[in-house]
Amino acid sequence: MHRFNDPKEFQEQALADRARGKTTALVPTMGFLHEGHASLIRWAAANADAVYVSVFVNPTQFGPGEDLEAYPRDPGRDAALAESCGATALFMPAPGDIYAPDHCTWVEVPPLARHLCGASRPVHFRGVATVVSILLHLALPHVAVFGQKDWQQLALLRRMARDLHLPCRIEGRPIVREADGLALSSRNVYLGPAERAQAPGLHAGLLHAAALARDGQRDAPTLKAAIAAYYAEHVPAGEVDYIEIVDPENVQPVAALEGPALAAVAVRLGRARLIDNELLRP
Ligand code: PAJ
Repeated sequence: MHRFNDPKEFQEQALADRARGKTTALVPTMGFLHEGHASLIRWAAANADAVYVSVFVNPTQFGPGEDLEAYPRDPGRDAALAESCGATALFMPAPGDIYAPDHCTWVEVPPLARHLCGASRPVHFRGVATVVSILLHLALPHVAVFGQKDWQQLALLRRMARDLHLPCRIEGRPIVREADGLALSSRNVYLGPAERAQAPGLHAGLLHAAALARDGQRDAPTLKAAIAAYYAEHVPAGEVDYIEIVDPENVQPVAALEGPALAAVAVRLGRARLIDNELLRP
């Protein structure tokens, strides 16, 4: 596995791989890799000749007072895990390698950034779209791989790639969970033992709504109230940021299920802000 800090050297590798006729895949991450990231890298290795993993805690997607400084990091372990999953190159730039002091070019997808996480994190998706756009310009991959855990991010990046005519497929992969249902996240390390014990309730509440939808409940306010009641009982330490039911593609709230809809939640549990989602099929 080649290692790069310098964007130009990384881009030269990517250009050389393409010139040799290789198919290439990019897996963007913020590091502290877990099995969720590993599943994306393994998928990329099974579907492309060259697999680039980026590890970059992107400062522009953190708002003031968020956990940029506290965000967990372990570059040595990340490198070993990426390599064991089949990465052929690891790109670990420093913030100053990506953003010039007078950086002023931004990529925004406002309608898809309005709801869910965008409501409480106003600069977040501008930072995500901008850094992913930069990474795609550096790596020039045939395919870029993202997890459905961050469904809104995935939908927004698909729209960005379409609108900008990027020559890159955006691939979405399923959420990897602990045996008890908790979605893997680098931020799970923030959970204390009591919070960790309640955290699986996040997904259980979504499955409860999915069962109600399967049994015929199509009214979004009723389904949201059912999730809220479930959390009040099973995740009492949780402070709900949002419980929303949206169109899976454009991430706009729906009043009723007319086809598959996405139930998406964000809940603060102690220091951690956890997100999860589940498709509801009427
Ligand atoms: P990060 O949170 O490190 O996640 C990197 C990728 O791993 C994302 O596509 C995310 O959806 C996916 N992922 C995280 N947990 C997962 C799980 N339990 N199952 C499946 N996939 C999972 O998302 C980001 O970083 C950043 O916003 C980034 C796209 C790298 C831009 O900075």
